[in-house]
Amino acid sequence: MTVSTDDFHSAIAKGVPGERDFKNGRKMFGAGSCYACHRFQGEGGAVGPDLTSSGGKFSAVDLLETVVDPSKVISDQYSASQFLLDDGTLLVGSVMNLKENEYWVNSDMMKPSTITKVKVDSIEAIRPSQVSMMPTGLLNTMSDKDVLDLLAYLISAGNPDHPLFKN
Ligand code: HEC
Repeated sequence: MTVSTDDFHSAIAKGVPGERDFKNGRKMFGAGSCYACHRFQGEGGAVGPDLTSSGGKFSAVDLLETVVDPSKVISDQYSASQFLLDDGTLLVGSVMNLKENEYWVNSDMMKPSTITKVKVDSIEAIRPSQVSMMPTGLLNTMSDKDVLDLLAYLISAGNPDHPLFKN
């Protein structure tokens, strides 16, 4: 079973199965680079939404979906922009800064210092991007158990006493 299959989805349709491993869930949050972009219990980056309350906001299946396929639903506040330039170039990224006549655009949130400067008068059109700035494939190196522990960790809001960790 892998996380993208229907089997995995039906296994968590009624919620994540119990007796999960809290420590491993927390470890997977780090291993999956989630901290690079997300705050959780006051720690981590802030280029993506705070995930502390995400377990209350999404069902287990929806939570998994947002991680496997980040572009399916993109939170407005964090959507990237798509720039079509005069020379036909298409650039997707987050606007970090607007300086005089230039947009400073970051196309890779894992590398926040990588900036493309786009002259305002070279822009044909700017639209909200349909592609999330959150990378895909973050769960690819994890086992099924790792993914379930990670989901439990999110759902528990980082509380080791949550019923999902009882055995
Ligand atoms: C390179 C930055 C980056 C990384 C790494 C990243 N995310 Fe995200 N994530 C985002 C951004 C930006 C959004 C908001 C845009 C969107 O909804 O797609 C987001 C959205 C989400 C959402 C939806 C939150 C909401 O309130 O709508 C969840 C859940 C989520 N990420 C979980 C994770 C998990 C779990 C990991 C680690 C396995 C992770 N993300 C790694 C950038 C990232």
